[in-house]
Amino acid sequence: MGSTQHWLKDSVLRSGLVIDPAWFLRPDGVDASRSIHGVAHTERVRTHALELAETLGFDAWEREALEYAAIWHDIGRTDDGADYYHGAKSAGKVVGLGLHTEVDPFVLESALFAVTHHCGDEDHALHQARWFSDPDATLRVFHALKDADILDRVRLGDLDPAYLYFGQSHERIETAWQLLREMP
Ligand SMILES: [Fe+2]
Ligand SMILES: [Fe+2]
Repeated sequence: MGSTQHWLKDSVLRSGLVIDPAWFLRPDGVDASRSIHGVAHTERVRTHALELAETLGFDAWEREALEYAAIWHDIGRTDDGADYYHGAKSAGKVVGLGLHTEVDPFVLESALFAVTHHCGDEDHALHQARWFSDPDATLRVFHALKDADILDRVRLGDLDPAYLYFGQSHERIETAWQLLREMP
């Protein structure tokens, strides 16, 4: 797929949700909006997520939950290293900044689940999902966020396809490189 085609498709999929650079301001005053976990990474993860949602035939509400999860997933980072609990911190920051107030509670539940668990122990996430309103859909959103995030590891040069959950994600590896060139 050429870059023009990609952008056309992306523009059709786009919802209009804006990724605010101010979300990436850290408690120590560091502006991380241009970091390896900043706006550009978030925009690429959103693109992967929305295109995956289409490929996988997500329901509209799952797609919406996935997009929110994608644009919020790293805003709570306080460090660009391992920062093991940053998913939980990102979910807390969503609420702290009031970003959730207009979101349907059912959609929000799955979005914040994916954000919270995207960087933690996967078995823990699988265990916890059973308490949610729609465990299967919640896990679909969770796995799609993780795959979208993993695909953008091309920016770090260490994408390991073995970590991708969906077969359709494996087919996006070349797209991930292309997206990195188009949206650096
Ligand atoms: Fe993350
Ligand atoms: Fe990320």
